Amino acid sequence: MAESIFLTEGATKAERYEQLIPQLKTLIGDDTHQTAVLSNCASAIHFAFDSLWTGFYTVEGDELVLGPFQGPIACMRIKIGKGVSGAVLANGETLVVPDVDAFPGHIACSSDSRSEIVVPVRDAAGEIRAVLDVDSASLGTFDDTDRAYLETICDWIGAQIF
Ligand code: SME
Repeated sequence: MAESIFLTEGATKAERYEQLIPQLKTLIGDDTHQTAVLSNCASAIHFAFDSLWTGFYTVEGDELVLGPFQGPIACMRIKIGKGVSGAVLANGETLVVPDVDAFPGHIACSSDSRSEIVVPVRDAAGEIRAVLDVDSASLGTFDDTDRAYLETICDWIGAQIF
């Protein structure tokens, strides 16, 4: 397998995603093991964008349970409807939060987090089985470019493992 993900220095955000996605697909190949796939996806996305925290929560009953991630230690269980991740599980839509302090009910796993994006990961039946949460130490890091590319990545992950 490849030892690293290669991204061009100085590339735009969209270019970085364009470079990342095919390498991620090559890295994962036909492996369908949930922990293995989510772990390498969390690592690849995290280091591609030098984020504060990048990881997955998987759906178990009416809550999200911490899954593979990169970054500081994090909340282990989030109830449906709670925080940004729980809101995504409840509403089924990606949330881009430019300022976490302005999001009612935001769960501060890390006091360094300033903005975040949470994207649902669905199975073939359209059920949300996990969410991808990416946190930044800067305000307003995430936009519609992140939303579009991370949704593409999460759709592919969902089809691969669920
Ligand atoms: N901030 C998230 C909680 C998860 S962590 O940031 C890793 C939220 O409000 O859902």
